[in-house]
Amino acid sequence: MKKSIALFSILLFANSVLAATSSATIEQRVEQLLSKMTLEQKIGQTALRGMSSRFKGVPPKHLKDAIRQGKVGAFLNVMNKDTVTELQRIAVEESPQGVPLLFGRDVIHGFKTIFPIPVGLAATWSPELAKQGARISAAEATTYGVRWTFAPMMDITRDARWGRIAETFGEDPYLASLFAAAMVKGFQGEDLSDPTSLAACAKHFAGYGAAEGGRDYNTTYIPEQQLRDIYLPPFKAAVDAGVASFMSAFNEINGVPATANHFLLTQVLRNEWRFDGFVVSDWNSVRETIVHGYAADDKHAAERSMLAGLDMEMVGKAYENNLAELVKQGKVDSALIDEAARRILRIKLRLGLFDKPYFDRDRDHIIQSKPYLAAAKRAAIESTVLLKNNNDILPLTKKQTIAVIGPLADQPHEQLGTWTFDGDKSTTQTIWPALQAFVNNQAKLNYEPALSYSRDKSQARFKQAIAAAKKSDVVLFIGGEEAIITGEAHSRANIRLPGVQEPLIKALHATGKPIVLLILAGRPISLYHILDQVDAVLIAWHPGTMGGPALVDLLYGVESPSGRLPVTWPKAAGQLPLYYNHKNTGRPANAETFVHIDDIKVGAWQSSLGNTSHYLDLGYTPQFPFGYGLSYTDFEYADLKLARRKLKVGEQLVASVRIKNTGKRAATETVQLYTQDLVGDITRPIRELKRFQRVQLKPGQSKKLSFKLDTNELSFHNQKMQRVVEPGEFNIWIGPNASEGLQAKFELVE
Ligand code: NOJ
Repeated sequence: MKKSIALFSILLFANSVLAATSSATIEQRVEQLLSKMTLEQKIGQTALRGMSSRFKGVPPKHLKDAIRQGKVGAFLNVMNKDTVTELQRIAVEESPQGVPLLFGRDVIHGFKTIFPIPVGLAATWSPELAKQGARISAAEATTYGVRWTFAPMMDITRDARWGRIAETFGEDPYLASLFAAAMVKGFQGEDLSDPTSLAACAKHFAGYGAAEGGRDYNTTYIPEQQLRDIYLPPFKAAVDAGVASFMSAFNEINGVPATANHFLLTQVLRNEWRFDGFVVSDWNSVRETIVHGYAADDKHAAERSMLAGLDMEMVGKAYENNLAELVKQGKVDSALIDEAARRILRIKLRLGLFDKPYFDRDRDHIIQSKPYLAAAKRAAIESTVLLKNNNDILPLTKKQTIAVIGPLADQPHEQLGTWTFDGDKSTTQTIWPALQAFVNNQAKLNYEPALSYSRDKSQARFKQAIAAAKKSDVVLFIGGEEAIITGEAHSRANIRLPGVQEPLIKALHATGKPIVLLILAGRPISLYHILDQVDAVLIAWHPGTMGGPALVDLLYGVESPSGRLPVTWPKAAGQLPLYYNHKNTGRPANAETFVHIDDIKVGAWQSSLGNTSHYLDLGYTPQFPFGYGLSYTDFEYADLKLARRKLKVGEQLVASVRIKNTGKRAATETVQLYTQDLVGDITRPIRELKRFQRVQLKPGQSKKLSFKLDTNELSFHNQKMQRVVEPGEFNIWIGPNASEGLQAKFELVE
């Protein structure tokens, strides 16, 4: 035993020496290369040239010439294997220093095996599953020569109108940080130089999810404390996980476009966090600084972006056309260009591209292999959140006749969700055939979609749907949003079910049959107007390739739902932005004083009606809180205990709770720990998620869970922008979501 430990330590030591040497070697090689490169060749490394995402053909001759001249450092969207090999050959054999190209692609939630959209992945509350998905995506994407993905996206958002909420890990900095780190590790693998590793890209730096009104690309104003406490933590987690690259955001933040933002790119990212990879702009975002009103022309845009610390330009040519001239004129120090090229070369070396520039073209057998599909199915199962289940209408049984209605039961393309350029809809396993296979003629299914797509406004087939409902025991309505309704530039002002889905649900409700509403969507959907007309609600997000079989297992109780909301679910868009970790205000809303709009007497005296922060019509609570999700059993929380109620700053908080499965089915509960710092140098949120554990319990089984929290995790940025942990009183909750839980208090002392 001792011997093996000793051997293990020697190996570990040898490994770390090796890692240290190889990183020293990489740095030496970078410097050697730089010493041989001309200014123009270094600028060439900063150029990311792109085709459209649909491009399949042969790139124009002028691009090949540009590679030959050392004017291109990287490509995106080259998805023809021969072309990748040919372009790489030109770079390696014919360009001045033979620097290999880096090929990038948006591999967001799968390459060929499509996983649930990121907000769905976050709903698993299982970073491990997301990591596994990212590993699979990397293994598949590298079969096409891709070595760089523009993922994971880790923007925090509090606004379901924003179409890109689908690509986020939700609203919470702690949860999003865990997912950001997990996906970086999954994409990059154990070793970036492994040919199946993808360099990850932390995007969009920063604040993109705070776009005004949820309108994509819009202005953001984020106070520095909030930026550091809410929006930046996932990016810091990505740096700590070793992420190779960053992407600057499209938005301006506090008046300065993120792409030319010295505070973000240099002060925070390089100086404070010591990030040594490179930063790429978003698509043409260097030149968009002109439109923002921050630069006068291309040259000025290039100058301001380079001075800010932006290393690589995506698609635009502001750098290519102007940097040399800017250096000549003394406006940009050549050391800055050296630094940008150094960072890019460093990542290319870490990827092993100099030693193995060509990809292995014989790995196609791994695509959509059995274990990959199984992993995608597991992720789809665990991402689905059960929001309502009156009278235990779910799970269904084979004894029931089911009317399958609604536009999304058999839509291979829609099920994949946004950002699936390489997803192959012909391999999607949709819900309707999966249902048929599952019941295997042992139950009757009456299929009448009635609507052909989610925005369909025709009521022509309502009659058939109603007839199908009438001859069935239960209506399974499968609706939501098509994939194109979320994603980049797909914001909505109204987040209700599109088309005539609501009137159809109302008509079905009138038949008196119970309705199970299964939603496929990229964002929380406002259900306010129909929630009382349906008996059960499941949100499956866009579940990906294996969504069909995964959802059927959930519907029939082969699996119990375990997803939990990574976002607060609003009643209506009018409540947005809405998030659980808000401040208390001086007049927090409460049930005692709340007066509903319909309860105000006609001609009432102008008074402040309860004097609290609420809406007269929708009140002050969300439809479903952050962290919420039901299963097919019940869990009981008891015995919240703290090891000590008084502890010193720097010590560890230890809390425990007993969870019991009081129902009849095995299921997984996600036990969540929240804290509240009661008084702060700046006011603190009413709750903050600090820990969670997923626990699987059989019927009747109970388990004691214990949580440890370093008191420095209670830190925040004070008025002087120092990160501090302040002594004082705290609330702690352990519970099933952000609105419930057992509560205790503890005190931090100096
Ligand atoms: C624009 C998007 O904002 C970004 O997320 C994506 O990676 C790039 N286009 C490249 O497609």
